[in-house]
Amino acid sequence: MENQVFVMDHPLIQHKLTHLRDIHTGSKQFRELVSEIANLMCYEATRDLPLKEVETETPICKCKTKVIAGRKMAFVPILRAGLGMVDGVLNLIPAAKVGHIGMYRDPETHEPVDYYCKLPHDLEKRDVIVLDPMLATGGSAIDAVTKIKDFHPRSIKFMCIIAAPEGIEAFTKVHSDVPVYCAGLDEKLNDHAYIVPGLGDAGDRIFGTK
Ligand code: PRP
Ligand code: URA
Repeated sequence: MENQVFVMDHPLIQHKLTHLRDIHTGSKQFRELVSEIANLMCYEATRDLPLKEVETETPICKCKTKVIAGRKMAFVPILRAGLGMVDGVLNLIPAAKVGHIGMYRDPETHEPVDYYCKLPHDLEKRDVIVLDPMLATGGSAIDAVTKIKDFHPRSIKFMCIIAAPEGIEAFTKVHSDVPVYCAGLDEKLNDHAYIVPGLGDAGDRIFGTK
C-alpha cells in the first residue's frame, strides 16, 4: 500500500507551531503548545472514523443522527517527548487506552535504544495512533511501529509535530501501510541528526532538562 503523508496546514496549527519553534518560548508555554497542537492534529487524524446512524429525540421531533461506530482507540506516546502530546489527544478521546514505548537516541550513532514497552492487552481490537513530536532520522518511529505491529492492532497511524524529509523517506520505506500526520515538514537534518530549522530537543524543552 502507498504511504499517505498529511501535512496539516490549518492556520491555528501553523500559528502555534511558530511559537513552539521560538527559542524564547519557555517550558511551561512549550508544554501547553505541544498539547494544543496534538489536540488539533488529533481532530484531523480521526476524520475517517466510521459513523453509524441512530435515532434521537430532540425537543421538536425524532430524527436520524450519527455517532461514532464503536471504534476502540489507543494512543502510544514514544517516551519521553511523546508524553507531551497525550493530554491533548485524550482531551478529544477520553475513553482511549494509553500504551508507552520508551526509546532514546544514542548520542553518537543516533540509533534508537529501547528501554520500555507497555501496551494495552487488547490491541488487536484497537486503532492505534503513535505519538512523538519529532521524526528526524525516523529510527525511533520505525522501531516503535515495528514493536506495536507485533501486537496486531486493527490499524495504526503515526502523528508527529515536525518531520524531516529523511525521516519521512526512511519511515515510509519500512512502514508503507502507516499514514503519517505532521504539522511541519522541514528542510533537512544537521550533522547531529537534529531537524533544521526544527525546534531543538523536544524532550528537553518539554521537561526543562538541559
Ligand atoms: C527524540 C524524539 C524522537 C527521536 C526522533 O527523542 O522525541 O523520539 O528523538 O529522532 P529519530 O527520528 O532520529 O529517531 P530522544 O531520543 O531525544 O529522547 P527523549 O524524548 O527521551 O528526549
Ligand atoms: N529529536 C529532537 O528532539 N529534535 C530533533 O531535532 C531531532 C531529534
